[in-house]
Amino acid sequence: MTGCVMSFPQDFSEITRRDVPLAAYTWLKVGGPAQYLVEPRSADELVAVVQAAQHAGIQSRLLGGGSNVLVPDTGLSGITLRLTHECFSRVTIEAAIVRAGGGALLSHAMSQSVAAGLAGLENLVGIPGTVGGALHGNAGTRYGEVGQYVRSVTVLNSAGEQCVRTEDELTFGYRTSSINEPVILEVEFELTPDDPDEITRRMRKQWIIKKATQPLSFQSAGCIFKNPRGLSTGALIEQAGLKGTRVGQAEVSDRHANFVVTHEGATATEVRTLIDLIRSKVTEIHGVDLELEIQVW
Ligand code: EPU
Repeated sequence: MTGCVMSFPQDFSEITRRDVPLAAYTWLKVGGPAQYLVEPRSADELVAVVQAAQHAGIQSRLLGGGSNVLVPDTGLSGITLRLTHECFSRVTIEAAIVRAGGGALLSHAMSQSVAAGLAGLENLVGIPGTVGGALHGNAGTRYGEVGQYVRSVTVLNSAGEQCVRTEDELTFGYRTSSINEPVILEVEFELTPDDPDEITRRMRKQWIIKKATQPLSFQSAGCIFKNPRGLSTGALIEQAGLKGTRVGQAEVSDRHANFVVTHEGATATEVRTLIDLIRSKVTEIHGVDLELEIQVW
């Protein structure tokens, strides 16, 4: 590609919008605009944008499903990429291998797998966001984590080069992964054939529990902290008497205290102030330092 790097934003006007409010693209529904919001229409176009950004010294970052990020009220300078085009969200199945684009919803990859009689991903029922986002943070539940089903990942590094990383080159921990490239293009899962009715039954059971214990029907919510080893953050926050605590329009969920819900007019600053308040109160009462699960941008 040397010698033919395109110029940003001039050469990308068809896929670039300026000053686009991002709140609607996040679950917390707060935060300011992206200086440039770019939605490529092919992997080649994505590569070209990343290379042009790198060449021009413009920061670029990927916004996935928006369920695990807090965008500041001042917005994001540089390029915010979204993989909204259908070419990034395909799910195909061959024997026990499920290939999913990084922009596919995890729930879509899960339902396709279940319908094909492949077990594994049903353990992730109720997890919002994209396949790429889930992999990046090794999303999971107590029944399983996404990383354990991965066979290989195709990523794009910050220089715009594509490479495939196989299972043996990847490590996954509790809500962390070794994938630090800016873009996850495609994931290959290796699942286990099983009776579709059995898988569906397991999935439904977990879904019912999840709906009863988390504010999933709330339009604007986010799980904020990781669980400290052997402890439940939700229980710690509840015991600190913080359920229902508000900073402006941001509130600690009544249903599950490790979630913050936001009401009309909430700001990212209010969410941050509430997060700081929860943290200091939990340290004061329980002597436990909570670690953020959500990415504060
Ligand atoms: N609890 C409270 N008060 C609360 C919330 C929970 O007392 O407000 C108690 C519950 O009664 C239960 C214990 O805490 O005895 C554990 O609660 P729960 O079963 O809801 O699980 P969790 O530890 O809070 C974890 C994951 C969830 C995942 C669930 C179910 C983290 C931070 N949380 O929650 O994942 O869905 O298990 O598998 O790892 C996430 O990571 O974003 C997430 C939502």
